[in-house]
Amino acid sequence: MARVLVTRRLPDGGLDPLRAAGHELIERPGDAPLSHDALVAAAGDVDAVVCLLTDRIDAEVFAAGAGRLRVVANVAVGYDNIDVAAAAEHGIAVCNTPGVLDETTADLAFLLLLAASRLASDAERDLRAGRWPGWGINQYLGRDVHGATLGLVGFGRVGQTMGRRGTGFGMQVLHHTRHDTGVPGHVADLDRLLEECDAVSLHVPLTDETRHLIGAPELARMKPTAVLVNTARGPVVDEEALADALAQGTIFAAGLDVFEREPGVHPRLLAAPRAVLLPHIGSATTATRTRMTRVASEGARAVLAGERPLNLVTP
Ligand code: DGY
Repeated sequence: MARVLVTRRLPDGGLDPLRAAGHELIERPGDAPLSHDALVAAAGDVDAVVCLLTDRIDAEVFAAGAGRLRVVANVAVGYDNIDVAAAAEHGIAVCNTPGVLDETTADLAFLLLLAASRLASDAERDLRAGRWPGWGINQYLGRDVHGATLGLVGFGRVGQTMGRRGTGFGMQVLHHTRHDTGVPGHVADLDRLLEECDAVSLHVPLTDETRHLIGAPELARMKPTAVLVNTARGPVVDEEALADALAQGTIFAAGLDVFEREPGVHPRLLAAPRAVLLPHIGSATTATRTRMTRVASEGARAVLAGERPLNLVTP
């Protein structure tokens, strides 16, 4: 039977596929993340690792695991925390959790769109702080979501799911990808999408090409009435430029679930007006997090059984 390192405490039942296969699970007391050194030290003693997006699984970890380690299963759909090329070099499989968090993440992206458009955080903050003087006709004047044009940057599963929510709210929905999707609403030019949309929601993975995809020049193209939503990865947006845009009113508002240096949040964003900030909870429902853990576990189980998992990201 294989030895499987589980880097953090996971939802109940999520590891059942590995348990049922009779593998030895190395679970850790408490919920503190493993240090990188500890990960490197452990990698050579196990056949599989079930990890989270907070674990940096880099070339050093794969080099330490080479010879024994067969699979790293990430309990997340995004896998920018893993050096997939280094894994492939050592013949180690990497799996993720596609398909099971689309609806939950799109729900949260839409929540951010609504909350940012209607200035919900600013209004609630004032109310809690006793700063609400009573109803006023000019208070907290937001932007309508219904009837607005929603621009999706990236049109994978979560982007498409977000698009359906937009349609349900009576929005016109456009999307931008580098390659033509053949779907109505495709806009080949990102600048054009940014210029035309009232709300822009980001749904791209973090890669060298998408790092700071939205920076000062892109924010300057957006309407001063526009809202930016990011539930993808923090570094897709240049936070300094976004803080400037919010301070100067270059865009109307932002709804962010992800940040460049999590768990750190740029102090200027914390202080920014018209910003709704959440601590990376896009997929955070009990049902979805349990499903994600099961999908990752099932991927690890399959590799250990010599099968090809459906959720393999290594070439
Ligand atoms: C992911 O899966 O990549 C999300 O960021 C966390 O659910």
